[in-house]
Amino acid sequence: MADPKHGDAPIVIDETPGRKSYCTCGWSDKLPYCDGAHNRMETGCVPFKCEVTEAGKKAVCQCHQTGNPPWCDGTHSRLKKG
Ligand code: FES
Repeated sequence: MADPKHGDAPIVIDETPGRKSYCTCGWSDKLPYCDGAHNRMETGCVPFKCEVTEAGKKAVCQCHQTGNPPWCDGTHSRLKKG
């Protein structure tokens, strides 16, 4: 399997309130949102679902190491590249 579509840096969006489903597999064509690719690609991943209560600029974690999912907490900047 090739590498997923995203890198480690967060995806910054102008988010709106409501129920959200964020991609955790990296294969969605609608990043940072899930489009069902995790099933089509048989990744074993499941999307991160949550309720966003306030509109505004949000940084959605793509390295999957954040301590505050689904939001970026800066962890990607401390990851070693191998
Ligand atoms: S498409 Fe990636 S988690 Fe659903």
